[in-house]
Order: sequence, then C-alpha cells, then structure tokens
Amino acid sequence: MTKKPLIAGNWKMNGGLAANQALIGALLQGLDTPSCDVALCVPAPYFSQLKALLEGSAIALGAQDISARPHGGAFTGEHSGAMLRDFGVRYAIVGHSERRQYHGETDEHVAAKVAAALASGITPIVCVGETLAEREAGRTEEVVKRQLAAVIHVNGHCLSEIVVAYEPVWAIGTGKTASPEQAQAVHAVLRAQLQHAAGDHAAGMRILYGGSMNAANAAELLAQADIDGGLIGGASLKAPDFLQIIAAAR
Ligand code: 13P
Repeated sequence: MTKKPLIAGNWKMNGGLAANQALIGALLQGLDTPSCDVALCVPAPYFSQLKALLEGSAIALGAQDISARPHGGAFTGEHSGAMLRDFGVRYAIVGHSERRQYHGETDEHVAAKVAAALASGITPIVCVGETLAEREAGRTEEVVKRQLAAVIHVNGHCLSEIVVAYEPVWAIGTGKTASPEQAQAVHAVLRAQLQHAAGDHAAGMRILYGGSMNAANAAELLAQADIDGGLIGGASLKAPDFLQIIAAAR
C-alpha cells in the first residue's frame, strides 16, 4: 500500500504576524513540489493569516487542539471543529503531551477530541508517548498501547482516517532524539495494535515520529520501516531546517 509521508510542523505557542509572514515566505520560496504531504499546526489566532498565506500552496493548515464538543454553547476558550473548518484547517493535533501534562487531558478526553475532529472532517494527529520515568521502568509499550487503545475504543469504525504520532516525552524539546531503532521498535508496536483493530487498513496509516527531529537526524529516522513522517516542533520554526526535513521525506 502506498502512502505519502506527512511532515507536520507544530509551532506550539510561537509566532507573530510579521514572523509568520517571513517564515511562510521563505518556506514557499524553497518548496518545489514536495513528495510528501506538509502541514503547519499553528496557534488559532493566526488561522486567518495563515489561511491567506497558504492559499494554493502545498502546505496544509493544522490546529494544535480541538474541542471535544460539537459547535455552539457555553464553553469559554474552546474552538470547535466547525470553527477550524471555517479557516480550511485540515489537521488537528490531539493529545499532545503538553496538553496531557499541563491541561490534564486524559486518554478518554483525547479519544473524544479525536471523534470530534473526525466528525468535522479534520484529520486528527493523535499523540502518544512515554515519559522518561515510564521508559526507565520498562513501561513504554504499556503506556503507548493504553493511550492508543482509548482512541481505538471510541473511534474504531473510522480508525483508518487518523494519523498517529509517537512522541516520547523525554525527547520533546530536549535535543535528545530517540534513536532510529528505539523509535522503530515503538512504531512497530503501534502498527501491530492498529493492525489488530483496523486489519489491512493499518498498513496504509501514517505513524509519525516527533521529539527533537531536525535537519541532521530526519533522514535516518524517516528511513525506518514504520516511520511515515514527522511531527516537528523547534525545527519547524526555521525555514531551512524544515525544508531539509521535508526533502528527507520521500
Ligand atoms: P521538538 O521538535 O521541539 O522536540 O517538539 C516535538 C513536538 O512536541 C512536536 O509536537
């Protein structure tokens, strides 16, 4: 089954009107026709600006979160799938470890957000990953399987529409990347779990790696059998680096 890799940038809480314009200008200038899918998950206040800047380009717009609730109602601070769709948002990161850690998102909450994204026609990028303590305790497999199982439980019927991202918490923003072998081992576990739930569709599903992926290590990580792209934080804020990662995904 052929599948295009996906390289998605996660700007996190970075950006500014002028900086965004400069970054997108540099990216579009350096981007020919990429052989992978490319997305940028930006802070919601910049959707309008990014929609205009990315119009007609090969870069899709993404969000960093989505409300679990349907559109409308008294939910201060939430952004519904319908709102995201108004701006042409195609992807939404769901269950990033920073949301789990700082905003108390549980596996069940993440699963509900995945359902909300799917109901809005937005592709969820579902993040799973273990902390350093969990890895050292030999619990990596158990943790990522539990996180993914909650999503499968609620969304089993349209599982093939989701993207999974393995992001070991200890590798995020630390400069400590999982080795290609460490990452591949976990990706293989996730693939087997998807296979169990979605059968043959699992082979066509994309499992991204995230955690200090950069221009220097991307090619080696992306060469692994079950690594189908990347979810990139810091390096997505630098046009030359992000372009190099995109070029490494083929
Ligand atoms: P870094 O690439 O900055 O480590 O961030 C990874 C990440 O959390 C992407 O979602």
